[in-house]
Amino acid sequence: MFAQRWIDGCVCRLTRTGLEYFASEQERSTLVHNEQQSNGRLDGKVALVTGAASGIGQAIAERFAREGAHVCLVDLNEEAARNTAREIVQSGGKAASHVCDVANQKAATELFRRIARENPIDILVNSAGVSHIGKLENTSEAEFDRIFQVNVKGTYNCMYAVIDSMKTNGGGAILNLASIAATAGLADRFAYSMSKGAVLSMTLSVARDYLAHNIRCNCISPARIHTAFVDGYLKKNYPGREQEMFRALSQTQPIGRMGKPEEVAALALFLCSDEAAFITGTDYPIDGGFFNLHG
Ligand SMILES: NC(=O)c1ccc[n+]([C@@H]2O[C@H](COP(=O)([O-])OP(=O)(O)OC[C@H]3O[C@@H](n4cnc5c(N)ncnc54)[C@H](O)[C@@H]3O)[C@@H](O)[C@H]2O)c1
Repeated sequence: MFAQRWIDGCVCRLTRTGLEYFASEQERSTLVHNEQQSNGRLDGKVALVTGAASGIGQAIAERFAREGAHVCLVDLNEEAARNTAREIVQSGGKAASHVCDVANQKAATELFRRIARENPIDILVNSAGVSHIGKLENTSEAEFDRIFQVNVKGTYNCMYAVIDSMKTNGGGAILNLASIAATAGLADRFAYSMSKGAVLSMTLSVARDYLAHNIRCNCISPARIHTAFVDGYLKKNYPGREQEMFRALSQTQPIGRMGKPEEVAALALFLCSDEAAFITGTDYPIDGGFFNLHG
């Protein structure tokens, strides 16, 4: 969808976030094939994506728009959300951006209900999230509360704000971004793991309670995906050693690299499409072998 420039002789490409490298030509061409493919799998659907100004949420918004959805991009970052929506529209898609702090229930409820009055929401993707590094003993109450407010309450607020509309419409699909941290004991991720465990539990609860309303609810648990999330973490914690640590973090996944936002978007597309009509109450790892291939 976006202008891409191929760098001669290298398996890499230039994107708005910088140079992207690929393990092989096959990996690159598979990704490009997936990106360019559009089969109208979400034709006529309205999808609301939070955290859509960056990373995984942005890739999901772009992919959903290519598949025919009218995408409502919700983010704190007004300018980046507006730019992403504009690029989608310029590429022939349907999109609008909205500024909202998902941690604020009143703001989220008002915005979502206003959108739903005009365009009943078929799909909600909760991707807005914040990270935190630290063990129990170096997690302050303020940090714990911040992670809880955005990752846990934000996800609850957004589901709370759309559920009535989905019930009235006869169904819908909700997809939450959990993490491998929800079920694996990761070092130095006390508050973050707490929040993603809660996202997983809320996903199961909502899936169970709204079965009869034809509302499916699933979550995705990525291992490390290369987004601003990761770049910010490296810059803050390993100044001057970013490249070395980038390589080390890539090796955490047995497949030898980080995931790409577009790869998460491909899974999100499937789970939110009618092809996944039999799938609800499930947590999908997308982890480069993290859970099963160590050792
Ligand atoms: N990147 C990874 O390695 C990874 C791995 C597992 C799970 N996740 C999860 O995936 C989701 C997306 O991560 P990402 O890497 O794309 O992050 P990102 O930082 O690239 O994007 C997050 C977006 O959420 C927005 N946001 C943050 N707080 C918000 C709030 N209160 N209200 C509205 N918008 C807000 C930010 O402005 C940003 O645009 C997060 O929930 C994250 O926990 C990421």
